[in-house]
Amino acid sequence: MWWILVGLWVVLSGGPVFADEAETAKPAASGGVSVEAGKVIYEKRCIFCHGDAGMGDGAASERFWPKPRDFNMGLFKYRTTPSGMLPTDEDLFKVVSNGLPGTGMPAWSDILKEEERRSVIQYIKTFSKRFARQKEPLKPIEIGPEIASSAESIEKGKALFTELECFKCHGTEGRGNGPSALELTDDKGDPILPRNLTKNWLFRGGGEPKDIYLRINTGLNGTPMPSFADSLDNEKSWHVANYVRSLSPAKKPEMDVVVRARRAPGVIPTDPNDPLWQEGDDRWFPMVGQVIREPRHFTPTITDVRVKSLYNDNEIGVMVAWDDPSQSKTDESAEIFGDAVAIQFPVELYPGSKKPYFLMGDEKKPVNLWTWKSETGSVSESNATGIDQEKEQDGGSQEVSGGGVYQNGRYRVVMKRSLTTQDVAHDIQFQQGKFVPVAFHAWDGHNKEVATKRAISHWYYVVIEPDIPKSVYIYPPVVAAVVFGLQFLLQRRLRKNHQAGSGKGAS
Ligand code: HEC
Ligand code: HEC
Repeated sequence: MWWILVGLWVVLSGGPVFADEAETAKPAASGGVSVEAGKVIYEKRCIFCHGDAGMGDGAASERFWPKPRDFNMGLFKYRTTPSGMLPTDEDLFKVVSNGLPGTGMPAWSDILKEEERRSVIQYIKTFSKRFARQKEPLKPIEIGPEIASSAESIEKGKALFTELECFKCHGTEGRGNGPSALELTDDKGDPILPRNLTKNWLFRGGGEPKDIYLRINTGLNGTPMPSFADSLDNEKSWHVANYVRSLSPAKKPEMDVVVRARRAPGVIPTDPNDPLWQEGDDRWFPMVGQVIREPRHFTPTITDVRVKSLYNDNEIGVMVAWDDPSQSKTDESAEIFGDAVAIQFPVELYPGSKKPYFLMGDEKKPVNLWTWKSETGSVSESNATGIDQEKEQDGGSQEVSGGGVYQNGRYRVVMKRSLTTQDVAHDIQFQQGKFVPVAFHAWDGHNKEVATKRAISHWYYVVIEPDIPKSVYIYPPVVAAVVFGLQFLLQRRLRKNHQAGSGKGAS
């Protein structure tokens, strides 16, 4: 069972499951920071992932991508020191304290005291001889005066992004889908993906221009991400950093649990490029690896989906958009499969907030799934009473249609159906004003995702808002006019009385 816990913990990033043994390692008898105290902490907190000899091969290491660091190599990614150099103690302290977002590396600032974090750092430095050989003090690179972000700076940064060929790995729009993206490996020979630069909240070393400045001037040792220090000066570095920052939203998207269907003026288009689908806000929902049922999936590439909905008198359509570094084609020998997405509804609405089990329903409460497959572009409708209990509906009941596009590292898929159907035993029925639970499944086939190996979401809702009655628009002005009129009369009456009163006083 422990792997489920590890999975959930990574997913929730809430901190290590084994941290509930509240007591922390005792510092050495003398107190303070020491290698000996660090060893005790390491063996309790880090060994599980980084291994007893620091080789990144602990019991849980297979669950992570990238794998836990092999400290014997003396190669560290998130540094302030020039390319190829060791990190400073402060660099390591930052990583150990804050963790590495989007990876298995937890933040330890709430669990270990500062002294304990500093001790464990001294201990992990003993795994590589490079630290002992390093006689000169390690010095951070110099960061010159900041150039604040502006349209002009971003424009210059964009040109440099092309000139320096960042796009070859990160893609022209930065979604980590460049032509070399799928061929990259790290110094241990493990495959590694370039970062999706449109989600800066998942940058390991921090998502602000100053952090990006450091990354492009120091490189990520042990990975294909090089340092560009030789091609950049201070000014150019800020331009690139400002451009990369501009690829992500100003703030990490917040989760809003309800997708509100917008009324479409006519037919609901199945082409995601139709202008109607470009309008309106979308909702953002996080996705996690399916780690509940075998075979489990701990390392999904799809971290979130964005969802919109349109309806008219007869139909409802849902558009799901997500980033995927490649449009994959099935190659069974390489364990590569096609990409896909599924939208899940309950078959019927239950009273209160009762819903089927979020992972494809259960015996008592089945779900209705609409699935789109990238290789065939086909849409199918099925029912399930569990993740391995899915059955496609008969030909005659297949009523969902749709379409999808893959552009610059992003899929956008539309599926639509009539609001109600004859097959009430198998199909969800939509009604204005009813909150219909909805959940999502997505597969990145290049990441060996197929069947139970997929990214999943929790239940959210889609609602067709009741048409706002015309009275809502008519009444407010009427009410305002009446109130205004009454006020006017009242004021006139008061003024008259006042005049009458003051007249009396003067006489
Ligand atoms: C649950 C697994 C897990 C545990 C427990 C864990 N780590 Fe890590 N750690 C990782 C992973 C995974 C990475 C690699 C992330 C990457 O390469 O993006 C990593 C990377 C690191 C790095 C490399 C940072 C860099 O800049 O390259 C350091 C240092 C580190 N861990 C220290 C520790 C220490 C100290 C502890 C114990 C207090 C610890 N880790 C516990 C999973 C773990
Ligand atoms: C040869 C491929 C390659 C090129 C070229 C490249 N990168 Fe990267 N980049 C990577 C990889 C791979 C990673 C992720 C490494 C990892 O996860 O350990 C990465 C990570 C990053 C990160 C994320 C740092 C973090 O904190 O998470 C940024 C920012 C970045 N690159 C920006 C750039 C910019 C800007 C350029 C051009 C000036 C560039 N990269 C060129 C491969 C490349």
